[in-house]
Amino acid sequence: MIISSASDFREAARRRLPRFLFDYADGGAYAEVTLRRNVADLAGIALRQRVLKDVATIDLSTSLFGRQVGLPVALGPVGISGMYARRGEIQAARAAKAAGIPACLSTVSICSIEEVAQVADPFWFQLYVIRDRAFMKDLIARAKAAGASAMVFTVDMPVPGARYRDAHSGMSGPNAPLRRMLQAIGKPAWSWDVGLRGRPHTLGNLLPVLGKDSGLNDYMGWLGANFDPSIQWKDLDWIRAEWDGPLIIKGILDPEDAREAAAIGANGIVVSNHGGRQLDGVLSSARALPAIDDAVGDALTVLADGGVRNGLDVVRMLALGAKGVLLGRAWVYALAAQGETGVAKLLELIAKEMTVAMTLTGVNRIDAIDRSILAEPIK
Ligand SMILES: Cc1cc2nc3c(=O)[nH]c(=O)nc-3n(C[C@H](O)[C@H](O)[C@H](O)COP(=O)(O)O)c2cc1C
Repeated sequence: MIISSASDFREAARRRLPRFLFDYADGGAYAEVTLRRNVADLAGIALRQRVLKDVATIDLSTSLFGRQVGLPVALGPVGISGMYARRGEIQAARAAKAAGIPACLSTVSICSIEEVAQVADPFWFQLYVIRDRAFMKDLIARAKAAGASAMVFTVDMPVPGARYRDAHSGMSGPNAPLRRMLQAIGKPAWSWDVGLRGRPHTLGNLLPVLGKDSGLNDYMGWLGANFDPSIQWKDLDWIRAEWDGPLIIKGILDPEDAREAAAIGANGIVVSNHGGRQLDGVLSSARALPAIDDAVGDALTVLADGGVRNGLDVVRMLALGAKGVLLGRAWVYALAAQGETGVAKLLELIAKEMTVAMTLTGVNRIDAIDRSILAEPIK
């Protein structure tokens, strides 16, 4: 099929993947209200068209946490992305490196910190709050030893959100392994590429706790059993003590929480509702972002994600106050559709779309994008 836009990647991914994997990425919590809001609120933001502003040279590069990056974009952490293409985290990290943007590896990835660190640059590592603090410490030490340049600490998953699609698709629920196997038989290209040649399907970073025979069932079980709802802001002191590099708190949706993050000395936050996968019904990231930027934009680096599907959305997030944007589903669809080439193409599309948006809003530098390029005041 012809791929000329990011949404084409989604359709290509839907055709290639067994249903349980497509629905796991595509779906969200409960009735998926927040998932839809993320996309619709962002797409609904009108840009202010300006003309004849001499924008012959557009510079898409910027700096994030002391590193020059080609675009104000990073590949956000996505669990088990190594199931979407063969050793998928490696392929995605290569494409990110070629575009000069950070790749953030999830705690619950297929490929391990050590494998991905060899190809990613800049390499960010995402850490979850895990009951076993000694294991958390160990993960921080591994990320440090592997050369991670930022730690993204995700705080919006004290419990896993209920995702109805997963129960229906065979990701969880009764007879899940059998249902997944039957779906895989119907998708021979994926089965050959990932099911057979992409082994092992173990969770690379969790081998010390899950063992070398772990698989998808352990993944869902582990998510449920190991997250820790008792964590408080003051507990972050010890993470600060273990990790002296840039610390980015991911999953902030409220200005009060953003102020807490600044108070504990975080270097950045990600305004995020986990892509609508946690508490359904909360605000979209686009709606939450301006007030958060007003509260802490001078104290730390505000990043955002949720519903970003193309370069226009990146520009919109920047106009709302973000200094950088994480991609989630967009890069996973591209990876599932065409592996490393797909992610590279997606990043090219995003760069082109950003260039058009900047040209026609009359700005030629990333740091010149602000609310003045919006057509309507923020409500
Ligand atoms: C399949 C999938 C798995 C994810 N796994 C993680 C994860 O392991 N850690 C994390 O912090 N966020 C995770 N996220 C959330 C993303 O990092 C990001 O916040 C979200 O996808 C942004 O929304 P978008 O996909 O609409 O762009 C996941 C998202 C998806 C779609």
